[in-house]
Amino acid sequence: MEKLGLAVFISGSGSNLQALIDACKSPEYPAQIKLVISNRPDAYGLERAQNEAIKAICIDHKKYKTRAEFENALSEELSKHKIDLICLAGFMRILTADFINKWPNKIINTHPALLPKFGGEGMYGEHVHRAVLKAKEKESGASIHFVIPEVDKGQLIAQGTVPVLENDTIESLSARVIAQEHILYPQAVKKIALERLSK
Ligand code: GAR
Repeated sequence: MEKLGLAVFISGSGSNLQALIDACKSPEYPAQIKLVISNRPDAYGLERAQNEAIKAICIDHKKYKTRAEFENALSEELSKHKIDLICLAGFMRILTADFINKWPNKIINTHPALLPKFGGEGMYGEHVHRAVLKAKEKESGASIHFVIPEVDKGQLIAQGTVPVLENDTIESLSARVIAQEHILYPQAVKKIALERLSK
């Protein structure tokens, strides 16, 4: 069966990577992870990939003088592995327009809120949940979207909602949202894979 070739970019725990790894284990799932790239050497997600014998490398942004050089190193690896879709999964580096335009319609991201609310530069990880709690929102959720140069503004692919409870903390809300991401991300990748493979 023909499958869409994925690269997953991570910076940390990689629980969304794990959700994608688990989905890809099913023989009828229309995508496979060919490459995992972390920009941080200590990202636990690298171990998750190695445990499954998936090629995982660190391209440490700190070792490059410029963003362009760092991104050229990313692009080189992507080209080497014939990647069809790049899944950002807790990747905490903003990618430049040059990089994004080099991979048109080929980069997607998971964001821990209901975009267009609580998105943009500086809105990542716990900052998002803190802002949601501060705004006394009744609902939050997860958004899977295409990546364009304007941060968190690309077309939505899927969204899932969760309630915000009165006594929620950043931790309790974040756990509820990430559980949604783990369901939605594999579904969104499947949808794109089926569309693209049928063309
Ligand atoms: C996820 O909640 C993801 O949405 C968020 O980081 C977490 C990564 O968790 N990403 C952003 O905030 C990007 N703006 P994981 O490493 O366990 O998948």
